[in-house]
Amino acid sequence: MTISRTSTMTSPTIPTTTLRTRPDLAGLASFRAGPTLERAIKLDSNELPYGPLASVRDVLSGAVGDVNRYPDNTGAELAARLAERYGVSPDNITLGPGSVNLCLQLAQVTCAGGDEIVIPWRSFEAYPSVAKTVGATVRTVALTADHRPDLPAMAAAISDRTRLVFVCTPNNPTGTVLGRAELEQFFDTVPDDVIVVLDEAYCEFTGDIDTLDGVEFVKQRLAEPRHNIVAMRTFSKAYGLAGLRVGYCVSAEPVSDLLKRVALPYSVNALAQRAAVASLAATGELAVRCKRISAERDRVRAALLAAGYEVPVSGANFLWLPLDAATERFKQHCLASRILVRAFPGNGVRVTIGEPDENDAFVVAARTFQCG
Ligand SMILES: Cc1ncc(COP(=O)(O)O)c(C=O)c1O
Repeated sequence: MTISRTSTMTSPTIPTTTLRTRPDLAGLASFRAGPTLERAIKLDSNELPYGPLASVRDVLSGAVGDVNRYPDNTGAELAARLAERYGVSPDNITLGPGSVNLCLQLAQVTCAGGDEIVIPWRSFEAYPSVAKTVGATVRTVALTADHRPDLPAMAAAISDRTRLVFVCTPNNPTGTVLGRAELEQFFDTVPDDVIVVLDEAYCEFTGDIDTLDGVEFVKQRLAEPRHNIVAMRTFSKAYGLAGLRVGYCVSAEPVSDLLKRVALPYSVNALAQRAAVASLAATGELAVRCKRISAERDRVRAALLAAGYEVPVSGANFLWLPLDAATERFKQHCLASRILVRAFPGNGVRVTIGEPDENDAFVVAARTFQCG
């Protein structure tokens, strides 16, 4: 079996150099995507198994001929469509080349060396990386015993040096969803001068779970002098556009204005802008695929529970198996069936929901794993 890349983070050592580079980057590991394996069932990267929505494919093929031109730097049409959808001004929208880049922009506009970023942990792996990139200190706050970001503990971790807080719901990699009341209470506790990002990358899969709509919350607050909550979403997950790289923040204008200042020119490419605009028009198609994935997720979870696994309720397109010491062995067991899952050594395994036959193959592998 040949695996062309490894899924581990690179060693944090930097090749010796006499160049005057930043010594603090020695602690920063570079991101490595999951491995590629021929004919593998790829359930390791929280992507959708489907390509772009059917109506979006046509728009994309029609747009290819224009790529000799730079894209619209302001992404005016996409910002206008998003603003229309949410009932805000385009000035409240900031586009980015993937929401991961917006995480970096948020850190850039809030933190200088020594400032602090509070994050739940375990959560989206990019949060600590962007913090270290800007020279900020990361304050990690352990998840609760039921695998959810611990909002009271996060509030308590905020200090005079805190400039930014990331809250991820549904949380990657645990899939757990924070409730409306606890989020509102948290937002009221955080000092008004500390920006809180509500990362809603997977919100389209949450279904009936009672949670807060971050964009709606930001919109209501626009009328108030408190401007510190930012909602962040992406076209990478439910919309199936991960390869095109486009995400967005909804925030009060003072925040979006700053985010736009640190954006690199032309960073959201023309195909991504066109595909995102077309995707927004395809609400019916989107709802169908999200329902399909959520139903598969619940089916796989039920099968795993029946097989004796602990699996927290998920509001995302993936499930979390807190396997602790058995994590790496489970990953290797799946690999033997050519199934790629994401292992967080010593902690757990995240499995993305794929097509029904792929999920079936995963369930078979899980059933034959010897836990003890
Ligand atoms: C919680 C969360 N936020 C943001 C992102 C970034 O997505 P993208 O940069 O593709 O928009 C991811 C990607 O996996 C994620 O899991």
